[in-house]
Amino acid sequence: MIYLDNAATTFPKPSTVYDKINEAMLNYGANPGRSGHDLALKASRGIYDTRELLAAFFNVDNPFNMIFTFNATESLNIAIKGVLKPGDHVITTSMEHNSVLRPIKHLERYGIENTIVWADNKGRIRAEQIEKAIKSNTKLIVTTHVSNLTGTILPIKEIAKVAENNGILYLLDAAQSAGVFSIDLKGINIDMMAFPGHKGLLGPQGTGGLYIREGLIIEELIQGGTGSASGSLIQPELMPDKFESGTPNAPGIIGLGEGIKYINTVGIDNIRIHEENLMDKLMEEISKINNIIMYGPLNTSEQGGVLSINFKDVDSSTTAYLLNEEFGICVRPGLHCAPLAHETLGTLNQGAVRLSVGPFNTEEDIDQVILALHKISKEF
Ligand code: ALA
Repeated sequence: MIYLDNAATTFPKPSTVYDKINEAMLNYGANPGRSGHDLALKASRGIYDTRELLAAFFNVDNPFNMIFTFNATESLNIAIKGVLKPGDHVITTSMEHNSVLRPIKHLERYGIENTIVWADNKGRIRAEQIEKAIKSNTKLIVTTHVSNLTGTILPIKEIAKVAENNGILYLLDAAQSAGVFSIDLKGINIDMMAFPGHKGLLGPQGTGGLYIREGLIIEELIQGGTGSASGSLIQPELMPDKFESGTPNAPGIIGLGEGIKYINTVGIDNIRIHEENLMDKLMEEISKINNIIMYGPLNTSEQGGVLSINFKDVDSSTTAYLLNEEFGICVRPGLHCAPLAHETLGTLNQGAVRLSVGPFNTEEDIDQVILALHKISKEF
């Protein structure tokens, strides 16, 4: 099979990730942060090591400002619901995933208003559009870094500046960028950043995280056992315990550490260059095929490792089915949990066929995809 669905989750992972998860489960599969015996301490230490790696990776001084979650969706829910109160206003964009849009829409029932800023038909948003949407009660701006539909890179530095100048919090959804685009949290005014562990960071599914800026107090989403301050019936304020109730995915988090080490060894810029090269080839070759529409900026200086396409008006599921059944190529059709992004492109009815590259794709993979698309184009 040729795997071009890395925007959903990267596959495969570095072999060290599989080995480490196996080792953790076999040798110290105890409950971390609880019992205090050697095996629990070893699991706890493994989680802390990954927290330290993540903090260094994003240039954050205090590893306790990185909290572990089960995915970016959970992180976004914690951040959005932890900040907004009745009477507040939040600004977001039409390029967001439902993991941003649904929590924000849900909050309407509690008197929290929102403004959705619409992108142009390539998925581009300008910081001035965000600035124009600010109201006296705007508390939060939430944007993606890289669209999961078009790969469009949003101008996060400029948006962060708008937030800073207006005293508004900025939450970045780094679901499609963390691990591929270098993000320096000291060099940019981001108050919170949600990220998955299982995409660009190359960890397993069931891992994610949220960065919360030092000193920013937000409410936790769930309460429960933390293994700390157990005599108190009140959730501790202590970081990261406040946000990490219940048994964590210890083997997964420990495995995620190996994903980060792999990126550090290869070099994040080399991963991005590799993906840019694959994308350049993909876009150039697809442009030569009859009847294919490509969406997005179509230029790697403005686009991550994601390309969405369609054959004229053919339903995206039909194309994806043929790619899978006849050519063993894995892609994602449909709406990608981003309905407003599809509305922006005009593909709400047809959906789109998304091809997304990862660090382990090769030029040969792209050759195979191009061959398959040429053959399919003759069928339509
Ligand atoms: N959010 C992931 C995607 O875009 C699952 O496919």
